[in-house]
Amino acid sequence: MNDPTPIPARAADAHQGLHSGQGALRGEHPGRADQPIIKVVDLAWLEFTKPDLDRAETFAHDFGFATAARTEDTLYLRGALAGPHCLVIRRGTASRFIGPAFLAADATDLDRLGRATGHQVRPLTEYGGGRAVDLLDPSGIPVRVVHGVAEEPIRPLRQALVLNTGTPADAARVNATQRPPRTPAQVQRLGHLVLSTRVFRRALDWYLQHLGLIVSDFLYLDGQRGRGPTMAFTRCDRGSEPADHHTLAMHLGPDTGYVHSAYQVADLDVLAAGGEYLRERGYHRSWGIGRHIQGSQIFDYWRDPDRFMLEHYTDGDLFDNTLEPGWAAMSASGLAQWGPPATRDFLGTTPSPQTLLKAISALREDNEIDRARLLGLMKALSK
Ligand SMILES: [Fe+2]
Repeated sequence: MNDPTPIPARAADAHQGLHSGQGALRGEHPGRADQPIIKVVDLAWLEFTKPDLDRAETFAHDFGFATAARTEDTLYLRGALAGPHCLVIRRGTASRFIGPAFLAADATDLDRLGRATGHQVRPLTEYGGGRAVDLLDPSGIPVRVVHGVAEEPIRPLRQALVLNTGTPADAARVNATQRPPRTPAQVQRLGHLVLSTRVFRRALDWYLQHLGLIVSDFLYLDGQRGRGPTMAFTRCDRGSEPADHHTLAMHLGPDTGYVHSAYQVADLDVLAAGGEYLRERGYHRSWGIGRHIQGSQIFDYWRDPDRFMLEHYTDGDLFDNTLEPGWAAMSASGLAQWGPPATRDFLGTTPSPQTLLKAISALREDNEIDRARLLGLMKALSK
């Protein structure tokens, strides 16, 4: 575990006005590793298993993905922008999240990661090809880092609407109507993944050290800031090139694994009309439409037929590597600037014997969950 070190001099003091909270206090987590092994440039894809690939593909198309390829046992889904396919769904007995794959900047980085971790770089022999290093994060989630995977070519893009604002003299649209189609919200690309873990601090430091991710925002439990953060929104360090406010977000919790993943769409109308399309087909909206605070995205959260949560988002923040982390207290009402109140379904606070059992087992295990933190989490999610 890294000891807290001072904020690097290069990090600009620009959290004011960008984040909801203030900056770090003396001695708090700096939000980046001094010398990470490599700096990944993005998420490549997420892997799942599902028993019914037909059902998975139907939902995927309704949600706005396109099929990149399908074999007897595997479904490869893509967004409309150029890049690697963004979801891999393998036929399996249960509906399960396997893990994320991140993109290395170049082949040398992949080799360096392999050498530093004692893992072999091996060729990927399935759709898209490329090479990979397979790691395990401290929560036990398989993390793949890839390079040289074939890119999908760009598809015709749904354009953002031209909006009229200000005085009629300034209007951008005259003698023309607004008719966004009620069709699936075309997914442009994979944006971020959110994970829950019982070993938050260990896992966070692992991602910062191994993949060079840097923290955009920390959340802490009210009254327990001195014990360190319990959630981090981390982005890729692309130097002066802007990156999504978060590519991986992670929080402490009694559960370990997938919380949700998010996919960019063109604008609010695509998101809202695509939401109507999903609602009309009987899918369950978990929470939305609203605008987040950390990351600023306009969001809409949905459940797939196996209750996995997926988010449509648009207009997210982009940071280069000069911004230092913001700090704020965690609360359900602090998740959005506007929108309906966060639902129990989204927060995972629907009381159930399963949730209770997970909490009890988390308390018994050697991890970062204890009574005070569990109560702090419950309090945060209730206000
Ligand atoms: Fe999200």
